[in-house]
Amino acid sequence: LSKIEIKLNKIPEGSNMTFKWRGKPLFVRHRTENEIAAEAAVNLAGLRHPQHDKDRVVNPKWLIVLGVCTHLGCVPIANSGDYGGYYCPCHGSHYDSSGRIRKGPAPLNLEVPYYEFLDDDTVVVG
Ligand code: FES
Repeated sequence: LSKIEIKLNKIPEGSNMTFKWRGKPLFVRHRTENEIAAEAAVNLAGLRHPQHDKDRVVNPKWLIVLGVCTHLGCVPIANSGDYGGYYCPCHGSHYDSSGRIRKGPAPLNLEVPYYEFLDDDTVVVG
């Protein structure tokens, strides 16, 4: 299936759920107020792949990214690592709560797929 519809009210604040989309893991993260504020305040000059958080989300409460490490494709672990976002155990890449690479060998941020909100509780990815 090329599109997936996700009901967001099943995902509690502070947690990340993994879906399968086009044969790959898809992460949907319900970010906390603290995470939203922290990611919006990150200085882009310190980033390997500089992207502002606002250019990676449509609604700041929801981070939607592919769960595929940009190093060699392992699946990172949510709510883990030095930046609290994701940690890839294969070779130690640390991503923040915006899915941006912060430490370790991965060259790029986690990929943001195309998606649209149908309403506050429903998103369609693809
Ligand atoms: Fe993730 Fe190497 S595949 S760090």
